[in-house]
Amino acid sequence: NPLDFSGVWRFRELLPFAPEDKIVTIGEGQTILQQSNSVARYCGMNDSSLFLQYEGLNPSGSFKDNGMTAAVTHAHMVGATQAACASTGNTSASLAIFGSCTGLLRVLVFIGSGKIAYGKLSQALDYNAKTIQLEGDFDDAMQRVREVCSQAGIYLCNSLNPFRLEGQKAIIFRILESLAWEPPDWIVVPGGNLGNTSAFGKALLELKELGLINRLPRLAVINAAGANTLHELYERDGLRWNHGRPDATVREDYFVAMEAGGRRAATLASAIEINRPVNLNKALRALDACDGVVREVGDQEILDGKAQVGAGGFGCEPASGASVAGVKQLREEGVIAASDRVVCILTGHQLKDPNVTVAYHSGKSDDFDRLLRPSGVNEAVHANS
Ligand code: F0G
Repeated sequence: NPLDFSGVWRFRELLPFAPEDKIVTIGEGQTILQQSNSVARYCGMNDSSLFLQYEGLNPSGSFKDNGMTAAVTHAHMVGATQAACASTGNTSASLAIFGSCTGLLRVLVFIGSGKIAYGKLSQALDYNAKTIQLEGDFDDAMQRVREVCSQAGIYLCNSLNPFRLEGQKAIIFRILESLAWEPPDWIVVPGGNLGNTSAFGKALLELKELGLINRLPRLAVINAAGANTLHELYERDGLRWNHGRPDATVREDYFVAMEAGGRRAATLASAIEINRPVNLNKALRALDACDGVVREVGDQEILDGKAQVGAGGFGCEPASGASVAGVKQLREEGVIAASDRVVCILTGHQLKDPNVTVAYHSGKSDDFDRLLRPSGVNEAVHANS
């Protein structure tokens, strides 16, 4: 069965919403779990204790393809011909490649002005997605795409879409399969819109319920310090899921108040430069189930972590370095023990954001602003739209 070549659909019994003849796959999810002793030592872990799940091997170079295959499958099931997303870059690259490879959907992507790494922008353009740049940042683009999709009847492919999260459960299935279904002690993941966090919690709960695992790993979600909404709500304010009680619903007033005070997300890890995570409540449920912790790490720590992954593995994009920086911090705090088994999710490919990598290795941190926002980005987008 060709579906067995997909790292998502070979687990189709665990995401049973799609009839086999409707499934849309481009060979996503062919990723591996890699052990890295050099990254382990950097984080203060014992040899053989740290694993890197490199999702950069996906067709569009990020974990998003795991979810997009499921969202596009559902879009196909309901007969949609147009799909859209807001993005910091990887969701748009993923939706765009599904559009180009399958010819099933016309793709529209909304991005915050200048808030996207060049590798990702070039993917959306090359895969012929209608690419629209908006004044503002990802949070603004997210709000706008929701309005446009509901007004124009366009299929929305952000992780608000529950089918996206179904597909992303497969990341957990593959990790556990690689570990012979013996859960690690920790799974550590960067947090942006919190789609992965939510999907991971759901996957783990379902596997436990089915008896495929006998205990749940702990979950650590790592925010960039400049985009730390979850960290503030969970660790500082003590916000909890509380088993679905209304006091745990997303507090719009919180976002309104902080943005009125001029707060906006700001980090070099542009993939996770998000102030209003749309999956906050589902993520709180995952943290509740998996005895979770949330940490924030600075841009310097993120890039240092990323460089360690480059020197001791496949490499990764900046946002993914947050998970390594998070492990190091949790080791220093003694929350993670040196002998714990830890899986870090490396969410995106090393080549997604070469400007940051080159600036880092040239030691030119003063140049980050210039290198991150190359002049010409606006023209490129306008030309396409
Ligand atoms: N890492 C990378 C490389 C990402 O692109 C994203 C999200 C995340 C981590 C955060 O994952 O949202 O599940 O918490 N990127 C989105 C995008 C927002 O538009 O590509 P999350």
